[in-house]
Amino acid sequence: MKYRKIERLGIEVSAFGVGCMRLPMKKLEDGTDVVDEEISTPIIRHAIDSGVNYVDTAYVYSGGKKNEIALGHALRDGYREKVYVATKLPTWPIQTYEDMERILDESRENLGVETIDFYLVHALNRGSWHKVRDLGVTRFLDEAKKSGKIRCACFSFHDNYDAFEEILGAYDWDMAQVQFNFMDIENQASLKGVRLAGEKKIPIVVMEGLLGGKLANAPDNVLALYDEFPVKRSPVEWAFRWLCDFPEIATVLSGVTSMEQCENNLEIFDRCEVGAMTDDEKDLIDRVRQAYRSRTKVGCTGCRYCMPCPNDVDIPGIFSIWNNKFLYNEKLQGNRDYARKIREEHDASKCLECGACEGVCPQHLGIIDLLKQADAEMR
Ligand SMILES: NC(=O)c1ccc[n+]([C@@H]2O[C@H](COP(=O)([O-])OP(=O)(O)OC[C@H]3O[C@@H](n4cnc5c(N)ncnc54)[C@H](OP(=O)(O)O)[C@@H]3O)[C@@H](O)[C@H]2O)c1
Repeated sequence: MKYRKIERLGIEVSAFGVGCMRLPMKKLEDGTDVVDEEISTPIIRHAIDSGVNYVDTAYVYSGGKKNEIALGHALRDGYREKVYVATKLPTWPIQTYEDMERILDESRENLGVETIDFYLVHALNRGSWHKVRDLGVTRFLDEAKKSGKIRCACFSFHDNYDAFEEILGAYDWDMAQVQFNFMDIENQASLKGVRLAGEKKIPIVVMEGLLGGKLANAPDNVLALYDEFPVKRSPVEWAFRWLCDFPEIATVLSGVTSMEQCENNLEIFDRCEVGAMTDDEKDLIDRVRQAYRSRTKVGCTGCRYCMPCPNDVDIPGIFSIWNNKFLYNEKLQGNRDYARKIREEHDASKCLECGACEGVCPQHLGIIDLLKQADAEMR
């Protein structure tokens, strides 16, 4: 495993961090969804045994607390001592200063840890930042550090560069987590934001490095570009190699859903280095980006922050079918998959236009209009 030094914290973190948001789930007999710990615990422990020392979860993942609890179980038997644990304070359920204190204590209990190493204010955008700032979040973070409940005060981010610049400059943050991959150089915090954090010596942790898996599953026009290149690498390796090139990035989180993916990523990250991308390789990635853009209908990453929809519209499912139809030339399959959504009454025509989804979408998608377009093209 390769490690990266975080000067301001005096620690080293593994270039590959395990992201827990997409841990495999299973249904219990009573119909409740829980994390499938028989699958997830061996994956997390294998990653740690192989040198990963950074794991990321959040209070709200897997439908509330379940992800933290599952990670807490995986970190028993001496594993907790081998890793930095990151979790997140949701901003949307918070109405008072005391709510922040309560949720932090719940997270510590769920995870079974005294101190949370990296505590992030979750998915900040300009609006949620102003809300928690006015509720005293920076005083709360200072107090939590002083009491030893957290070690580092951080934030994760989903908005544009201007909002990122404002938030980054408003407090003495120990780290910022941003959505970054070779498709997002002008989107979200963007390349400019990553460079700004570097100038301020604030380490970057990357989420959605494979754009929620889309960059692993390359369409034929992208595969053709990779195939033409003299050095052969998998789509996953190209995506991680591009990220590891940046000295500003401390850790790239990858959500792994199988042991095979975990093994694969461990091998890939061992081959990746800061500053290793050649000019020809950078040029290849520029062409790959154009090839993806030419076929993408909607920039949904499948993070499911919009779910559950109050009227059971399967928003990420519909956008995934719509994108795949064009990305992978799956015209017939796409229409068949959408017909199933209609039969199951989870299709876009069920949208009541309440807008609950648009308020929480980290990509700021105009979901209501996009659903109408998807329905018109696939019905
Ligand atoms: N703070 C926030 O607002 C926020 C938002 C999003 C994510 N995050 C954090 O960041 C972490 C990483 O984000 P992400 O899970 O979206 O990461 P990602 O790396 O972009 O996507 C993960 C998906 O990529 C696929 N994948 C990973 N390794 C692979 C491999 N070797 N071969 C083929 N496919 C592979 C898997 O998809 P399949 O399951 O389809 O195979 C996996 O579920 C999350 O787990 C979470 O901890 C935070």
